[in-house]
This record gives sequence, structure tokens and C-alpha cells, in this order.
Amino acid sequence: MLRELSEFLVIPSISALPDHAGDCRRAAQWLMQHLRHLGCPVVNLIEGEGHPVVWAESPRVPGRPTLLIYGHYDVQPTDPIDEWITPPFQPTVRDGQLHARGAADDKGQVYCLLKAYESVLDRERRPPINVNFIFEGEEESGGKVIFDLLTKEPDRTRADAVVVADMAYYAPGWPAVYTALRGICYAEITVRTLRHDLHSGTYGGVAPNAIETIVRMLADLKDRSGHINLPKLYKAVEPPTKKELKAWKALPFDTDRYREEEVTSKALTGLKDHSVLERTWALPTFEIHGIRGGFIGDGAKTVIPAQATAKVSLRLVPGLSMDKVARQLEKAARKVAPKYADVEVTILHGGDPVQVDITHEAFRLLDNAFESVVGRRAVPVRAGGSIPIVPLLGKTGAPVLLTGIGLPDDRLHSPNEKLDLHQLWDGIQVFGKFFERLAQMEQGAGEETTED
Ligand code: BES
Ligand code: MN
Ligand code: MN
Repeated sequence: MLRELSEFLVIPSISALPDHAGDCRRAAQWLMQHLRHLGCPVVNLIEGEGHPVVWAESPRVPGRPTLLIYGHYDVQPTDPIDEWITPPFQPTVRDGQLHARGAADDKGQVYCLLKAYESVLDRERRPPINVNFIFEGEEESGGKVIFDLLTKEPDRTRADAVVVADMAYYAPGWPAVYTALRGICYAEITVRTLRHDLHSGTYGGVAPNAIETIVRMLADLKDRSGHINLPKLYKAVEPPTKKELKAWKALPFDTDRYREEEVTSKALTGLKDHSVLERTWALPTFEIHGIRGGFIGDGAKTVIPAQATAKVSLRLVPGLSMDKVARQLEKAARKVAPKYADVEVTILHGGDPVQVDITHEAFRLLDNAFESVVGRRAVPVRAGGSIPIVPLLGKTGAPVLLTGIGLPDDRLHSPNEKLDLHQLWDGIQVFGKFFERLAQMEQGAGEETTED
């Protein structure tokens, strides 16, 4: 299995980098070949404006429920590349961990679901439930192929349940099911203060510097206490319920260990009146991802930059919508800009936050599966991260099971991303059991859950 998963992981399917479009396609083709090998009679590559979606249908088993499995085959860029102990696309096992870009996010988890599916096939390669697979190649870069597809053909999401395994356990030994995902609004703010760059000696002291201007604007958009200065932003936030807050307080959480080992900082920042879990799960954020402009090459160049661009994003929680926040950001950016600056705000991508009601029977079956393999049911948590397509996956009313086999320290999007192999082996069993239990549910035996 390691050799097989490594074949998938060596493909540098970085969706954000145009040079890797061919690699994204190769990753899609790897999945298609695998799905055909598993006996799926329908395996399609669906094209759009970007990287293609892989769609597959298992052999039909009439009278059994249908499960839609979602995942993504694209991965994040690898920079800073020097910090990788072994190269990102050369999967390597160290201390029971598989190190590679995409090991946890999301190729390793997609592979886990495929193996779980394989494990429940009968001799004719017939599964116990109907399964549809949808794998996209633009999750990490806010693409729109899967959006266009599911907007045009919402019937594809018609299912009795949807599984999204693109998340992590709450902690080792603590599988999780997610009751909310944050949304996101990703934008570029460009500021121009001069027609062209100027000599910083000749004009220094009078000419408005575009980088200085944008840095001050960004500082105005979020103050030192962590408060975001978009008027009305916090008013719209739906606070978590008392019950949720109480449940979060009961979760094991060691702030010092979290700070030192996961965050790796000397201090935690942000709104002091809210706990770490509230700040990462139930409040909006404003982050600066990069600033471009001026001279950033080796050596020194004395220049006053005429233009600067900042890439920023806000994470959105229930109560906040992508469209509304995008308008608020645009307005706020203009408001904090000095008169001499031309400001342009471009929204690159986004997605609304989601909340999931976890009372459906399918969640109990997942709990049972986790309990029988890991010894603990899934704890309800929220995610700080986003998966923009999830609102559409749940649109036809099917319960969306947001879960996963990763661990919180998998270093998603960072150098040395990894997946613990025992998480993978457990995960194959967990999802295999889940698939089998789902089959029983619709036959009318589900309520008794005799095995437990
Ligand atoms: N798998 C993550 C999202 C995630 C991470 C959920 C951890 C729960 C826990 C996903 O691949 C991701 O990184 N999404 C991006 C989406 C963005 C590019 C639109 C994100 O959250 O930054
Ligand atoms: Mn992911
Ligand atoms: Mn990701």
C-alpha cells in the first residue's frame, strides 16, 4: 500500500502554480486508473475552466443507500523548500510517519477511503452500498470547476450521506466530527502612490511610499489587540451556543504544549477575552499572506516603490457571508487609505462558512466505527480551516460527515507535512466498517446496531 500511495504522492499536483497543470492532470488520471481497477463501471474526467474533476460510480446495488465521497487531489506549494528534511515529492517514512506534500492533505486521506472501499468489495467487486466519488483538483487554490459542475448538475450530490475526509482528529486517540467549517474571503489589495518608482535619495522625504502606505493601511484594518476593523463584522457573528462552549471547555487542551509544539511561537496572539478554541473556530480572522512591491532581490537598491500589493484573507464564521464581507473589506480598505493612494481590491476566491447538524443516523454509524477501531467515538468540534465546496455538497439535504484521519501536528501547508501510518491503517478499518454499517442501516437493521 505504501508503494501505491507513493505513486500518487510523487505527482507534484500543485493547483496554484500554472506550471503544474500537467501534474494536476496526471494526479487525476492516477485516481481514474485506480477507480477503474477497483471495478467502477463509470469513471469520468470532467473538464472545466481549470483542473478537471474526477467522477466515478461504483457498481449499483439496488435498495442500498448511496454515499458520496469527496476529496481533493491537488496540493499546496512547497515553499520554503529548504526547510524540508526530505524533498516534498519524494515520499519517505520516518518514525512511522509518511513525509510528503499531500500526505495528509488530502491524498493520503483520499487513498484511505479508496482502500476502505476496496476492503468491503465482494468477490465480484460489488460494494455493500452505492458509492459515488467526486475528487477535485482546485481545493487549495479556490478554483471553480467543481462549483460550475455542481451548480449545473446539483443531482450529483443527491445521496443518503456525504463523506469528506479532509480533516484531523482532535488529538491523538480522539477522532473528530466537525459541526462547522469557517468560510474564507481571499483578496488582493493593491496600492499605487506614484506613476513610477523613484530614487529614494532624490525624492525621499516627500514622495509617498506605496509599501509604507499599504503597511499602515493593513495595520488599520486589524489593531494590536486582534480586533478587525470592518464595521458591523462582529455584530453579524453568531456566537457558539452555551452547550458548545461548555463542550469545548471539556476537551483536553494544553495551551503551553499547543503553543510550543503546534504553533511554535513564544506567545499566542489575538482577542484576549476569547479562548484559543473560540478564536480558531468561532471568530473571524484577518491574515496577511504576503506583500509584494519594491525591491526584494539580493543586495540593496535605493528605491521608493510606486506600487504595493498585499494578499490577505478573512476567515468567516456562521453569520458572515462571503459576498457581504467582500464588500465590507473593499469599503474598509478605501476608508483607511490616504487620499494620495489609488486602491484596488480584487477578490481572488472565497466560500461561505458551514454548519452541520450531526443528529442524523449516519453520524452514529461513524461513531460506532471509530469506537470499534480507535476505542473512542468522534468528538464534535469545529474547524478553523475551509473547504469551499462543502456548502454545495450538502445542498440536497444529505448529512455531510466532515471527518478525517490526520493529526493536528501534520503540518498541512507547511514544510515536512506528514501522515502517521497507524492513522492510515486505522482509518482504512474505520471507513470500511462505516461503509458496512451504512448498508445495514437502510435495510432496517441499523437502529439495533447489534454489533455494538
Ligand atoms: N483540508 C484543508 C481544510 C482543513 C484543514 C479543514 C484542517 C479542517 C482542518 C483544506 O485542504 C484547505 O487547506 N483549505 C483551504 C481552502 C482555501 C484555499 C480556500 C484553507 O482552509 O485554507
Ligand atoms: Mn484539504
Ligand atoms: Mn489544504
